[in-house]
Amino acid sequence: MSAFTYVIFFFLLSSSLAVCAQNHTYVYHDCPNTTTYSSNSTYSTNLRTLLSSLSSRNASYSSGFQNASSGQAPDRVTGLFLCRGDLSPEVCSSCVAFSVNDSFTRCPNEREAVLYYDECMLRYSHRHILSALTRAGEKDSSKEQKIPSNQLERFSNVLMATLNQAVTDAVKSSRKFDARKAYVTESLTVYGLVQCTPDMTRQDCMTCLQISINQLPIDRIGGRFILANCNSRFETYPFYNETAVKSPQPSPPPPRVSAPARPGKDAKSNVLVVPIVVSTIAVVLLLITGYCFLTKRKEEAYGTAPATDDFHCAKGDEISNPDSLQLDYKIIQAATNDFSESNNIGRGGSGEVYKGTFPNGTEVAVKRLSKTSGQGETEFKNEVAVVAKLQHRNLVRLFGFSLEGKERILVYEYVPNKNLDYFLFDPAKERQLDWNHRYKIIGGIARGILYLHQDSRLTIIHRNLKASNILLDADMNPKVADFGMAMIFGMDQTKESTKRIVGTYGYMSPEYAMHGQYSMKSDAYSFGVLVLEIVSGKRNNNFFERDGARDLVTYAWKLWRNKTPLDLVAPVIRHNCQINKVVQCIHVGLLCVQEDPANRPTLSTIVMMLSSNTVTLPVPKQPKFFAQSRPQKDLTDSEQSTKSNSVPWSIDDALITELYPR
Ligand SMILES: *[C@@H]1O[C@H](CO)[C@@H](O)[C@H](O)[C@H]1NC(C)=O
Ligand SMILES: *[C@@H]1O[C@H](CO)[C@@H](O)[C@H](O)[C@H]1NC(C)=O
Ligand SMILES: *[C@@H]1O[C@H](CO)[C@@H](O)[C@H](O)[C@H]1NC(C)=O
Ligand SMILES: *[C@@H]1O[C@H](CO)[C@@H](O)[C@H](O)[C@H]1NC(C)=O
Ligand SMILES: *[C@@H]1O[C@H](CO)[C@@H](O)[C@H](O)[C@H]1NC(C)=O
Ligand SMILES: *[C@@H]1O[C@H](CO)[C@@H](O)[C@H](O)[C@H]1NC(C)=O
Ligand SMILES: *[C@@H]1O[C@H](CO)[C@@H](O)[C@H](O)[C@H]1NC(C)=O
Repeated sequence: MSAFTYVIFFFLLSSSLAVCAQNHTYVYHDCPNTTTYSSNSTYSTNLRTLLSSLSSRNASYSSGFQNASSGQAPDRVTGLFLCRGDLSPEVCSSCVAFSVNDSFTRCPNEREAVLYYDECMLRYSHRHILSALTRAGEKDSSKEQKIPSNQLERFSNVLMATLNQAVTDAVKSSRKFDARKAYVTESLTVYGLVQCTPDMTRQDCMTCLQISINQLPIDRIGGRFILANCNSRFETYPFYNETAVKSPQPSPPPPRVSAPARPGKDAKSNVLVVPIVVSTIAVVLLLITGYCFLTKRKEEAYGTAPATDDFHCAKGDEISNPDSLQLDYKIIQAATNDFSESNNIGRGGSGEVYKGTFPNGTEVAVKRLSKTSGQGETEFKNEVAVVAKLQHRNLVRLFGFSLEGKERILVYEYVPNKNLDYFLFDPAKERQLDWNHRYKIIGGIARGILYLHQDSRLTIIHRNLKASNILLDADMNPKVADFGMAMIFGMDQTKESTKRIVGTYGYMSPEYAMHGQYSMKSDAYSFGVLVLEIVSGKRNNNFFERDGARDLVTYAWKLWRNKTPLDLVAPVIRHNCQINKVVQCIHVGLLCVQEDPANRPTLSTIVMMLSSNTVTLPVPKQPKFFAQSRPQKDLTDSEQSTKSNSVPWSIDDALITELYPR
């Protein structure tokens, strides 16, 4: 440890003597370890000044948050601390002093760091970190112990309702903090807490907390998800000081019911559920009748007949009897070697996937759904029957299902060549996808989704399009997988917003990620991300920062604006591609990721744009990627930038300024 560090220790000790030394529970720290400073540099002096100001007696701990900065660029350091909203100024100040001390041990000579404790967090960086949303330094943790399965449904419903309300209230409050409890049963209470750093705008705080609460392990007795800008946590015991938090009185626990068959459904939700189920079934019956009539005509008109006809509408009776799609559980068990580990070929959010071989040699992919779906058997069967009707060359075919007790299984056609993610992002395999393959894949995905959106006469919104959900057959033809899962999991497809967001971050449109609003245009957004990934061979998520752009979408836009779109093209295909097609794809991709859904093309327009050279495409505006950090100055200068939610960038240049009054 350097001599200078000891100077700081001394300083800290003297400044925090008023508060007795206390242990604070360490949670996690992240120092990217990419840039360091040397011990006698200007940066080190600035950092020392910054940290001492944050932990000085002058700092105002009463609001639980403070930001400060020190020095001039390029050696300027910005830092902040945030204490848990229920804590007293004394505990807050003690935790900050502790974390400052701890930062020298855990992140020695790092130019940026974030450290989390139960009671507070400390963050500093050479970048502009104030009011900037980032995914850096995130961390999840969950308790081992699970909620008993007979209480799970009610528990997760109560928890999510509580957290959603807490988020709504926290965003509006000056401290951007909320904590509350709710009764699950007479003997089970859940405590939830959400908090943003108060430098976040309402909208960014909302976005951050939505990410956070949607990553919580809601089948456990406790867990948290921490990001640099916000965090959320729940437990089944009071982990915050209840008397210090003024929160509304929760509604009393439900009366005890002996051996409830479906503990999650209280009277109120039944009232809602019954009409939905009845109308869903009615709509399904109506639509399927129409579907059979119309697809027959369409097949004749467009030649999009399904590859095989085993489950053709002409059979008719399947609709009133979805049982015809039911497969014997024992046969599936045998086909997959009793779901053996060696047959496991994938793992998704909704369950494990196994390869199976039926006695006649037919290979299938068997998806064993996680047992959290609260849907009834009849609903499940009806929904499967609908999804099984969706047949298109670019969609993975659903053959049938199986039910055994609580176990729900879906049986799909087996697609041999793994998925797009597997090829696209692997330096050893990306070569196998030349430009022609990639172009064909882009077109195929578009046609598959278009079919889901309209050709099937039932509007199915995929909601989870991503590279790993695009399977590739032996000829590298794309087949979209996992469609209709929202339906099979018992979520109403016709509703326009949802409490629980099911997609994958990086592919989700801003309005879906932030407000749970989805539409066909949210699929268009995900498609745009996919196109940019296919062209560039880079992931939107975990994008390595380039030219000040922290995500692929922004990077692509920057290149487009600089009239150098070809710089986006993956090096392995750069010397062997059709330039006009590549530019067309990037153009369409950028139109798809526009912030305003109204500015995104529909899938039918996309298919048309991709297949025609004569259509004049509109000029894309700056796109929006929901979890990006705020663009750097040079980007916001652009005449087309979206200014709607931007925050003033100017940062006080005084050596140390303490700000953020309540
Ligand atoms: C703080 O933690 C250390 C080691 O975990 C322990 O030895 C010490 O007694 C603790 N001090 C207080 C005041 O809790
Ligand atoms: C940072 O990187 C250096 C060199 O690569 C390594 O020796 C050190 O252990 C790393 N520190 C952390 C905290 O990862
Ligand atoms: C830092 O110290 C090293 C040796 O200890 C010296 O060579 C270097 O010039 C010093 N740098 C500054 C900026 O003082
Ligand atoms: C604390 O405040 C006093 C007066 O307000 C000022 O003189 C002193 O420099 C401040 N100390 C720090 C470390 O900011
Ligand atoms: C602290 O944050 C506020 C709000 O973002 C800003 O106006 C102020 O300049 C910051 N203070 C320092 C010292 O950076
Ligand atoms: C700072 O850390 C040292 C050891 O790393 C410890 O002895 C000292 O008590 C700490 N100071 C505070 C204020 O926590
Ligand atoms: C909880 O908060 C109240 C009111 O702020 C305070 O009087 C009490 O000491 C706190 N309890 C603990 C255990 O910190």
